[in-house]
Amino acid sequence: MKNIVILISGRGSNMEAIVRALEAERWPARIAAIISNRADAAGLQFAAAHAILTAVVSNQDYPSRAEFDAALQSAIDGFAPDLVVLAGFMRILTAPFVAHYAGRILNIHPSLLPNFPGLATHRQALAAGVAEHGATVHFVTDELDHGPAVLQAKIPVLPGDTEQSLAARVLVQEHLIYPRAVRMFIEGSLASQQKQLRTHAEECRPDHTKKDVA
Ligand code: GRF
Repeated sequence: MKNIVILISGRGSNMEAIVRALEAERWPARIAAIISNRADAAGLQFAAAHAILTAVVSNQDYPSRAEFDAALQSAIDGFAPDLVVLAGFMRILTAPFVAHYAGRILNIHPSLLPNFPGLATHRQALAAGVAEHGATVHFVTDELDHGPAVLQAKIPVLPGDTEQSLAARVLVQEHLIYPRAVRMFIEGSLASQQKQLRTHAEECRPDHTKKDVA
């Protein structure tokens, strides 16, 4: 049984899609906890209604990003996660935090990465006049919205589309690909990507010293 910890900041509809798929498809996994950086995140109510443990680690309680990430890491690690899932978690994470979870942390971004990283992706897509838009599930690395992609879903940009209409159609796709990607992780289909990311993080550790080869 694999332990999944999901981090949210708000609505939590991606978290909900993952929980529902796990329950319906009986994955060999459990949601060990849902952690939010905001006590008022609506998704916490869904978690509680599904008898899933919840915790709040508020970034406002910490004077620096590094101290918040350290507190968040210790809260997450208390649940012994095999996988950490960022589901609308609206915080930029520090490099040590990301390195600690190398190869076992996923995010979803509402664009066809590498296009339109960062915020306001639907506005960016409309401004660029692209014919296709979508969503990407990717491993998290310390470069924001740049880790290796796991799954992407594409939708056409239609005449008359607005930020809201695009966001709504992309969200439907997010709810399909995020559970699918998490299931792939749980079933071991992403093992080679995981291993590469772990090796890379290990080699980049500041105290890493190459072993002498005789
Ligand atoms: C989603 O569009 C996700 O791609 C982005 O933030 C939004 C979160 O929505 N990172 P929800 O909280 O999962 O409903």
